[in-house]
Amino acid sequence: MSETSGTSPKLRAVLDGIPTYKPGKPAAAEGPVAYKLSSNENPYPPLPGVMESALAAAAGFNRYPDMACTRLMNELAERFGVPVSHLATGTGSVGVAQQLIQATAGPGDEVIYAWRSFEAYPIITQISGAASVQVPLTSGDVHDLEAMAGAITDRTRLIFVCNPNNPTGTVVRRAELERFLDRVPSDVLVVLDEAYREFIRDPEVPDGIEIYRERPNVAVLRTFSKAYGLAGLRVGFAIAHEPVAAALRKTAVPFGVSQLAQDAAVASLYAEDELLGRVGSLVCERKRVYEGLVGQGWTVPESQANFVWLRLGERTVDFAAACEQAGVVVRPFAGEGVRVTIGESEANDIFLRAAEAFRKERF
Ligand SMILES: Cc1ncc(COP(=O)(O)O)c(C=O)c1O
Repeated sequence: MSETSGTSPKLRAVLDGIPTYKPGKPAAAEGPVAYKLSSNENPYPPLPGVMESALAAAAGFNRYPDMACTRLMNELAERFGVPVSHLATGTGSVGVAQQLIQATAGPGDEVIYAWRSFEAYPIITQISGAASVQVPLTSGDVHDLEAMAGAITDRTRLIFVCNPNNPTGTVVRRAELERFLDRVPSDVLVVLDEAYREFIRDPEVPDGIEIYRERPNVAVLRTFSKAYGLAGLRVGFAIAHEPVAAALRKTAVPFGVSQLAQDAAVASLYAEDELLGRVGSLVCERKRVYEGLVGQGWTVPESQANFVWLRLGERTVDFAAACEQAGVVVRPFAGEGVRVTIGESEANDIFLRAAEAFRKERF
């Protein structure tokens, strides 16, 4: 019996068949050393100063947090040179992404995004009642912006451009993005999801915040979860023009961003040099892993994020099992490929050895 019929409480039919978000598998609690390379997390532990701020905030958790996230908003406004009224925070950037859809799309509307991309997009779109329009990546695993522009109809309300793309790590560059944006009607919101922005080293990849300044229908999503290492505290933000930013404030869950998260985010901005130094080390590790894989004979799209993508097709699940056996948990997308987060160098070494052994055995 369908969950939306019979005597059970009536639930919205759009929830039927919704794909559930699959979190990256945790590392095994027992057995040999196991590293978690399945959720694109930052492998470094919290910085002492950031930890202190969070712990100090914890002493007041009998109170609700500052709902306006005042200190954080002021810091972000100054850092990015934007008015506070163009900022909105949420429970991770995925929370803000959901608010953006709630603010723009409902039944009868369409949301366009590349596929495969961040797996929350189909879920949050379906919850809204809008239809997903998934535009396949090119053969090089890059956004097909021509095809995405061609997919726009008068029902399109929002378009995600995930840059770099999760899970492939590939990017769209300035000229092609500008060309694409020129083709998007001004009443369609384009969301540049830049969750991995700080890991980009390709100078041709534009900073979405520069693009937003020129284009009222562009919003930028950023997060403290990746480069800043606050994944467990849940704080992300959008930079968008009015009335989009105002709509984000309306769709926010009241008090959604805890005081721990707010204070840790502010402390992270103060500790930015050190945190970005860590990002630099991860980028070096990314290069080492990429070159190691290419040296073993793999075809790997060049990644500008904190992970790499191996298109393994039918071998995907076996490859993930072999990695786990070796001591690293990766993220398989059955039938398609495996996403592997750049982690501690020991973890990356284990992964490279597992990939080499698998290749020798199975190719
Ligand atoms: C492309 C992309 N956007 C957004 C997010 C959401 O991150 P958070 O909600 O932790 O900010 C992720 C997380 O993996 C992601 O890969």
